[in-house]
Amino acid sequence: MAEFLESHSFVSRCTNVYFSIFALFCFKLFIKISLNILTHFYAVRGNRKEAARIAAEFYDFRQGHRSWADRSPLHEAACQGRLLALRTLLSQGYSASIITIDHVTPLHEACLGDHVACARALIEAGANVNATTIDGVTPLFNACSRGSSTCAEVLLENGAKPQAEVCRPSPIHEATSKGKAACVEALLAWGADVDYEIPHLGTPLYIACVSQELQCTRTLLDGGANVQKGHFLESPLHAAAQKDCTEVIKVLLEFGANINAKNLELKRPVETAPPSSLAEGLLLLYEATPRSLLQLCRLGIRDYMGCSRLHLIPQLKLPTLLQKYLQYR
Ligand SMILES: *[C@@H]1O[C@H](CO)[C@@H](O)[C@H](O)[C@H]1NC(C)=O
Repeated sequence: MAEFLESHSFVSRCTNVYFSIFALFCFKLFIKISLNILTHFYAVRGNRKEAARIAAEFYDFRQGHRSWADRSPLHEAACQGRLLALRTLLSQGYSASIITIDHVTPLHEACLGDHVACARALIEAGANVNATTIDGVTPLFNACSRGSSTCAEVLLENGAKPQAEVCRPSPIHEATSKGKAACVEALLAWGADVDYEIPHLGTPLYIACVSQELQCTRTLLDGGANVQKGHFLESPLHAAAQKDCTEVIKVLLEFGANINAKNLELKRPVETAPPSSLAEGLLLLYEATPRSLLQLCRLGIRDYMGCSRLHLIPQLKLPTLLQKYLQYR
């Protein structure tokens, strides 16, 4: 009897599942039909443009990460960089800090599109420069992602946080991974931590080496990045060796990277380079060649000063030529 009841409840559960699926299907069908009617309504009224827009919005899933449902005209204007439309909307009383369901503000859109004038207008109208989406993305992050150093500077000048909070998308890592050196420079100038380490990514310098971004590697090292700090025991030199990126390796060695550092597998950088690659050759040659006294002195003095005081080099009572040498200029 108990068995029968059990199997009976199992059967009813199955029908419940099928019923739910069927209901869901009907619901989707209903939505589709209503949308078609809506599109048709617009088409019949002669507003073909609007019909096309609606159709595109509902059926275009390429923009899946954006929630179309609640994007305001202000978002649209900011996204497309239409300054006049944006100003008109603001003067009509649209709030500059209007948000979508996922908390995207028009300022986010303007920065992602590299529309500086729109970003300025929104900030003047009171947009929050520190606004974060539900994914933790700030307008500054978007500016860095796009490589818009002008947008980044406008945001920073208006009080945006140069550095993300813990576990939030980090602007400096984003700019570095995409090779946007001008953005990295702006972030450092406004006080972002050059050695900011994220547990699953490592330091910005490590990211620069993984992404083989020579210019960013230089910018970070010029900004006082610790040449040894990477991702746990993986040093930036390990990353550059693995990627067989000789240009980056040269810069790291110039800044005193340790060729004997061991990673988690107790391998030295030269042992992580692809076999008989250029990187391996370069590292072997470097090992076999004595450093110049000049270079050893430079590294010694920089070491003695410490990363946090490297910016004081111009104040040393040294000839300009030597100061420049110490700063790798
Ligand atoms: C943004 O956040 C930073 C750090 O929390 C704060 O110092 C700054 O005042 C904020 N800026 C604005 C405009 O609210």
